[in-house]
Amino acid sequence: MKIVSVVGARPNFMKIAPFVHEIERYNQERSSSQERIEHILVHTGQHYDDKMSKDFFKALNIPEADINLGVGSGSHAEQVGNTMIAFEKVLLEHKPDWVVVVGDVNATCACSITAKKEHVKVAHIEAGLRSFDLKMPEEINRMVTDRLSDLLLTPCEISSQNLRSEGVSEDRIKFVGNIMIDTLEAQRAKAAALDVYAIVKEQLLFSDQNVSVINFDKYAVMTLHRPSNVDEKSTLSSILDFLCDEVASDMPLLWPIHPRTRKQIDKFDLWGKIHSTPNFVLLNPLGYHDLLRLNMDAQLMFTDSGGLQEECCVLGTPCLTLRWSTERPVTLKEHGGASVLVGDDIEKMRFEYLETMKIPRKPQRPKFWDGNTAMRIVHALLHHS
Ligand code: UD1
Repeated sequence: MKIVSVVGARPNFMKIAPFVHEIERYNQERSSSQERIEHILVHTGQHYDDKMSKDFFKALNIPEADINLGVGSGSHAEQVGNTMIAFEKVLLEHKPDWVVVVGDVNATCACSITAKKEHVKVAHIEAGLRSFDLKMPEEINRMVTDRLSDLLLTPCEISSQNLRSEGVSEDRIKFVGNIMIDTLEAQRAKAAALDVYAIVKEQLLFSDQNVSVINFDKYAVMTLHRPSNVDEKSTLSSILDFLCDEVASDMPLLWPIHPRTRKQIDKFDLWGKIHSTPNFVLLNPLGYHDLLRLNMDAQLMFTDSGGLQEECCVLGTPCLTLRWSTERPVTLKEHGGASVLVGDDIEKMRFEYLETMKIPRKPQRPKFWDGNTAMRIVHALLHHS
C-alpha cells in the first residue's frame, strides 16, 4: 500500500507524528517489501518559520518531509490554489493508493480536493468536527474534506453522529479517537521535566522584561490567533485591556504570540500597554513541550485554539475559550470537559474567569483518547475495502 500524507500548518504536526511512527513500527515488523506500507510525507509549506514548523518536526521526531510544496502565506484562494497546483504534480508522479489528510487547515481541504479529482482515495483524520459557523475558514475546510473523503476517522462519538446527520454512510465512518492525545501521552513525561521559569526566560519576546521578580507558582496562559479575535482593532484591544487590567493584576499571564497576532498588534499600535504591564509576560511562539509544560500547571487557559481545548480537557486545566462556537463540544463543561465559551464578550469573560478560579482541576478522558489512536487508524486504512 502506498500512502501520501499531508501536513501544512502547526496544528497538523502533533497529529501526523503518531501516524508516521505507527507506520514505521508496522513496517519494522514486516520482512517483505510487499507487506510494508510505502509512505511519502508532504509538507505544503503553509507554515515555514522554524518556530512554527521545523522545531516541531525535531521535537516530535518526525522525519523531514519527503516533499515540501513551499506554498507559504497568502490569501485563502492563493494558499488553496497554489497547494492544489503543486500537489497535483505529486499525485501524478507518485500515484498513491491513499491520501491521508489531518485537521482543518487550508492544506487539508486543498489536498483532499486534488486527490479526489485524481481518483485517489482520501482518509481524513479528525473527521466530523463541526462548529456550524461558516465564518470560520476551518469549518469550510472540514465540510469540504469530509464530503469528499472515503474514510472518515473521527475523534469522538459526537463527530460520528454529525457525519450520520449529514447522510454519510456507516461504512465510511470509523471512530478511532483523538490522535493528538497520542502525542500528548508520548511526550507528557518529557514536558513534565521542564522548568516553567527556564521556559519563560528562554522565550521572552522582549529581553528587557524583568521576570526575575515574578513569582510563577501560580500563573495563567493565553493564546490568541483567530481572525475573529485579532483582525479587528476594537475586538483585540478590548480583550487585551481585560487581560492586562483584570487577570495580569491577579497573577502572571504568559502569552506566546502567534505571528499573525504579532503583525496585528504592530498594525494597530497596541504594544504600549501590554509591554508595560509587569505581569503580562510576552513570549515567542513556543515549542510543543514548552507549551504542554505551561499548560500542566496553569491555573487557567485563555485560548481560541482548537487543540488547546482538547489538551486542557485531558490535563484538567480550566479553559476559557474566546469563541462563540466550538467544533469540539466534547471538551465543554456540559460534556464533562474543562472549557467554557466566552466569545469576545468582556462581561462574560469576567464572570467566567471569577467562577472558574473557584473550580479545581478536573482531568477528563473521552472514549479512545487513550494514546492508541494511530494504531486504530493504520488498522482502518489496511482493512478498508
Ligand atoms: C492557520 C490555520 C488555523 C490554525 C493556525 C495555527 C487555515 C485556514 N488556518 O492559521 O486553522 O489554527 O494555522 O497556527 O489554514 N506567518 C508567519 N510565519 C509562518 C506562518 C504564518 O509569519 O510560519 C504569518 C504570516 O503573516 C501569515 C499569517 O501568519 O500571513 C497567517 O498565517 P496562515 O497560515 O495564513 O494562517 P494562521 O492564522 O496561522
